[in-house]
Amino acid sequence: MAVYPIIMTQSSFTHRDNLKYPYEERGLQFGDGIYEVIRIYNGEYYLLKEHVDRLFRSAAAVKINLAVTKEEMTQLLLQLLERNKMNKDGKVYLQVTRGSAPRDHVFPEGIPANVYAYVQDLPRNTEKMDAGVATITQRDVRWENCYIKSLNLLPNVLAKQEAKENGCYEAILHRNGLVTECSSSNVYLVKDGKIYTHPATNNILHGCVRMRVEKFAKDLGIPFIEESFTVDDIATADEILLSSSTSEVMPIISVDDKQIADGKPGKITKQLQQAYVADANIIEPDKVSN
Ligand code: PDD
Repeated sequence: MAVYPIIMTQSSFTHRDNLKYPYEERGLQFGDGIYEVIRIYNGEYYLLKEHVDRLFRSAAAVKINLAVTKEEMTQLLLQLLERNKMNKDGKVYLQVTRGSAPRDHVFPEGIPANVYAYVQDLPRNTEKMDAGVATITQRDVRWENCYIKSLNLLPNVLAKQEAKENGCYEAILHRNGLVTECSSSNVYLVKDGKIYTHPATNNILHGCVRMRVEKFAKDLGIPFIEESFTVDDIATADEILLSSSTSEVMPIISVDDKQIADGKPGKITKQLQQAYVADANIIEPDKVSN
């Protein structure tokens, strides 16, 4: 087969050997890959095992073969922080795609997965965590395997952008009125002292922080009920909150311009925030004794 080496890129033409990115890459061309975002506090991973476990679950679900074991991946991720002398609050983005091969929907044979990970600073968003955030609701138009942390994030991206254009922090997604999760976080409703959230089915990402929130609730004696609530239930909620590796435990104080309860972060949300800080060994500046 002839090779046509000149590639159009933006509005110019270049030899394919000069391209800065691998254009025939399955993550780029098909979204054929998976990822993780792992939180770092004070130079140490939070919930590393949970993230590595989920990465391997996602890989198995989409039949991507990782060349390393869970233990080896864990060691590589630890080395990444060491080599970067990472000693602050941050995050690691880790991506695995099915590899580089001529474009064909069918899996390429004998091609290794492409893996990369990098570190970024990420200070804690304490201002928002103290004040709470506004949200909008959006239809959940994603596929039926949202438990896989796949690179196909277009519906999530569009929902989050819609939130931003409405002056909001997140979009709460629902399927026919049943709330699933947010565009990049899990969501919970508090009513009469009980926490409600969508069960960990295929329709939501099984958040690593969500798992901890469940444990915090159990430790605090707060019923954690895996039962989906509806968009209509939000109007009479005592508290609404979301959780993720980057947002931690975040109070939601309004939904679609309607205030939740008194418009302030609720009591249970604050208890969960305290439990999170303790669990992640976070040293809060005002609590440091000199
Ligand atoms: N998002 N649901 C969705 C759709 C998510 O993308 C995320 C994480 C979560 C929370 O998962 P965890 O508690 O494991 O962070 C729930 C990451 C942070 C992101 O895409 O940037």
